[in-house]
Amino acid sequence: MKILTIETTCDETAAAVVTDELQVLSSVVASQDKLHERFGGVVPEIASRAHVERILPVIDETLRKANLKLADLDAVAVANTPGLAGSLLVGLTAAKTIAVACDLPLVAINHLQAHIYACRLASGRNVFPCVGLVVSGGHSNIYRCAGPTDFTPLGGTIDDAAGEAFDKVASLLGLPYPGGPSIEKAARSGDATKYRFPRPLLDDPTRLDFSFSGLKTAVRYLIAGPGKVGASTGEQKARSVEDIAASFQEAVIDCLVGKAELALKRTGYNLLCVGGGVAANGRFRARLEASAAEHGYELHVPPLSLCTDNAVMGAIAIERLKAGQIEDLSLEISPGPERGGAASGGV
Ligand code: KG4
Ligand code: ZN
Repeated sequence: MKILTIETTCDETAAAVVTDELQVLSSVVASQDKLHERFGGVVPEIASRAHVERILPVIDETLRKANLKLADLDAVAVANTPGLAGSLLVGLTAAKTIAVACDLPLVAINHLQAHIYACRLASGRNVFPCVGLVVSGGHSNIYRCAGPTDFTPLGGTIDDAAGEAFDKVASLLGLPYPGGPSIEKAARSGDATKYRFPRPLLDDPTRLDFSFSGLKTAVRYLIAGPGKVGASTGEQKARSVEDIAASFQEAVIDCLVGKAELALKRTGYNLLCVGGGVAANGRFRARLEASAAEHGYELHVPPLSLCTDNAVMGAIAIERLKAGQIEDLSLEISPGPERGGAASGGV
């Protein structure tokens, strides 16, 4: 079977063709970074308009690269949750149109579950049951993943997501968008022990939640002083951007790694799958590897191209298709955000 997967949850317009054997026949990602750069963050209206312009060329290019026509497809799948409402609508409308025109089954993709499934694709073997940690621009969630169609949220951020904190702190430090890679680059030549930023909720063994908004404020206070809005050039220069970036990055990573370890302990699972844009961070990957070696669990983190948004990870749709989870045309978008654990009043 050949499945077309469509991804337009945020600011990447992406499509892929994958088979039921998890072979990737083609993949196209059109990034909008250049459009949002000057605003220091994704502007939802610009994102949805750009998706409208790009979705058909991206799908055409995906089929052309796989040497296929629409008539060769066996199913179409689309990420309908979570994400920006206007962006999600573009992908969903394209998928529904193809489903109707070509009489294909329509499959829904949960974007966060797809980020975890990227580990299944990259490893080439079963990774379930596992603890799933998704760390992206909009989410920092932990899941009990009993199977590829059985995800239970265990916890998540109660305010900012980790990627969002990277983006906002980069902006405070005058580093270019997207903030994650900029902070990582600056941190390489910084001293991570220079400033002791808070590690919110890390010491609370009863919660699998994160809170990054206070950490972001701590950076702002360090730069500008409590209650002040901006830093003068003189004040800013007195502190090293590299040291702040490295110290901030370490604080975020401490929280992520600490809660992942707690989730493994709680579930009794011995396998951790990490996904989402922040999982592209080299220091985070190294710290996860050290943690896995120390505690003896199996770790899967996808290659960089499968960490940031793409449509290949939408191959999770195959699992739903096999389980008979097919949608009709009443399928809606569900923008979210998807909160887990205490934040949602859940598990
Ligand atoms: O998963 P993703 O591509 O899109 C969403 O679903 O949100 O994640 C984007 C987020 C952005 O906040 C970006 O700054 C962050 O991932 N990111 C990183 C790195 N690369 C991307 N954060 C830290 N270090 C990186 N190297
Ligand atoms: Zn994502």
